[in-house]
Amino acid sequence: MCSLLTKAAAAAAARRQDRLRVALRGLGEQSGASSVSPAGDGRPRAAAGAPPRGRRRYSTGTRLSDGLLFRQLFESESSTYTYLLADAVSKDAVLIDPVLETVDRDLKLIEELGLRLKTAVNTHCHADHVTGTGLMKTRLAGLKSAISKSSGAAADVLLSEGDRITFGNHYLTVRETPGHTDGCVTLVTQDEGVAFTGDALLIRGCGRTDFQQGCSKRLYASIQQKIFTLPDRCLVYPAHDYLGQTVSTVGEERAFNPRLTKSLEDFVAIMNNLNLPKPSKIDISVPANLVCGVHHV
Ligand SMILES: [Fe+2]
Repeated sequence: MCSLLTKAAAAAAARRQDRLRVALRGLGEQSGASSVSPAGDGRPRAAAGAPPRGRRRYSTGTRLSDGLLFRQLFESESSTYTYLLADAVSKDAVLIDPVLETVDRDLKLIEELGLRLKTAVNTHCHADHVTGTGLMKTRLAGLKSAISKSSGAAADVLLSEGDRITFGNHYLTVRETPGHTDGCVTLVTQDEGVAFTGDALLIRGCGRTDFQQGCSKRLYASIQQKIFTLPDRCLVYPAHDYLGQTVSTVGEERAFNPRLTKSLEDFVAIMNNLNLPKPSKIDISVPANLVCGVHHV
């Protein structure tokens, strides 16, 4: 009897350890840990099954162990996320989608962290808020603005498919993801561990396609071909969220996005029947954002 109990207890302990190992493996994936370098980045590929090179966490206010500093910032009126990325060694930084009303906050953080902001990039010509890049350029010498060439907006750097935005030893690669607007881009870190998807792919949603140059068929193709081809572990950071969600993954969105799990035909029907009100700031935002915000480049 006693030996039977001992065997049962040992089996239960082994099962608990297995479950713990699986859970820990899952945590590594959720935190963006990557053991394989993308082709062409100059770094050796890890052997199959090798442990992750470094544990990476991309949550709000986190410093990453491989020397990439990351912050997710929020502007509440338009529910816009602004993202700060920096090389922790060189201090060169990139800011994604700054908002005019939060320029002072963002510049204060950049100064406190001792960073040198090289590029302020917009994922597209926004309709719901005015970009902060123009005002930032008047405050920071040497700062360059960037936006997609296809957006039709003015900026110091006009981006196209495959372009790189470099900061120190890091870079973001441009993937053109039109459909919400002609000039939408998704910015992907060099290890394909993080994608900043702008208004193309949102968490459990996507950008609307009923104004500017919106086209639901194009958006569907962009997401399927340019975002859902990234690794499942790749973290998704959108330009907005209205429900308090901060981050997703490509794998999660492929499995659970209620629009993108549908056929193209069903997706188009959903997008044609959203009946959303016009953004309140569209008449101010779009003309201003075509010239880098209220302050001309
Ligand atoms: Fe937008």
